Amino acid sequence: MGKTQLIKPRIREILSRELPGELIQMLPKHWVQIGDVLILPLRPELEPHKHQIAEVYAQVLGVKTVLRKGRIGGEFRETNYELLYGNDAITVHVENGIKYKLDVARIMFSPANVKERVRMAKVAKPGELVVDMFAGIGHLSLPMAVHGKARVIAIEKSPYTFRFLVENIELNRVQDRMTAYNIDNRDFPGEDIADRVLMGYVGKTHEFIPKALSIAKEGAVIHYHNTVPERLMPREPFETFRRIAREHGYEVEKLNELVIKRYAPGVWHVVVDVRVFKK
Ligand SMILES: C[S@@+](CC[C@H](N)C(=O)[O-])C[C@H]1O[C@@H](n2cnc3c(N)ncnc32)[C@H](O)[C@@H]1O
Repeated sequence: MGKTQLIKPRIREILSRELPGELIQMLPKHWVQIGDVLILPLRPELEPHKHQIAEVYAQVLGVKTVLRKGRIGGEFRETNYELLYGNDAITVHVENGIKYKLDVARIMFSPANVKERVRMAKVAKPGELVVDMFAGIGHLSLPMAVHGKARVIAIEKSPYTFRFLVENIELNRVQDRMTAYNIDNRDFPGEDIADRVLMGYVGKTHEFIPKALSIAKEGAVIHYHNTVPERLMPREPFETFRRIAREHGYEVEKLNELVIKRYAPGVWHVVVDVRVFKK
């Protein structure tokens, strides 16, 4: 699991011999571990000692690579971490019985989304067809194929991320029911086929609602993610979804709504489960 932990006395002990006392207080007390890669938040004051600090964390925690925490951005949701220790951020992370192979330096894997990955494993039903429009490395749809025994079409536009998606399908032995496409989901030709559509993307997800509706079968469920300013909640993001759906001749029913995590100050990442019907 991607986990947050408390600083180990051993780290403090080793670094106390090497760094000025006031810096010891600033050592990161929390970090995220994905497979055998560590993501460490470091204050600017620690900059001159960052490599030395990273090496001690790596040795005490037994990881091969340490990255400095950065921001996730852009269409492909790529990370921009700084490599502090080691040279290889490709790892296999195991969560909820699923093997996720990824390059932690370039592909996002949010520990805060774990509840949603576990929930998707439970909502999927054997034999139903799920179309994952923003598959990434299979974050949400691998659990649906592995635990839910659903059939999955996973669409991922980034060629680099797609390589891991394909590997993960094999690693988790779901080749018989999960197929991956390295295309922009707007170019996916399937219409009226999915029992369930995953829209695991934030920021501009509303732009993809018409495509999701055309992929969905009558009565299908769409899991619609987006980021929402707190002042617009709880109206949004459902209201925008319903408005766009109605403009395209669909009626919608809200089944469920969950806050996944705080995305930025005053902004939340929310998922709404919506059933869609043609008018
Ligand atoms: C946030 S990540 C996926 C995470 C996963 N769905 C989850 O919620 O944990 C979104 C992925 O969508 C991909 N993507 C962005 N635009 C796309 C498009 N138009 N078609 C297909 N994939 C796209 C990005 O490359 C990225 O890997």
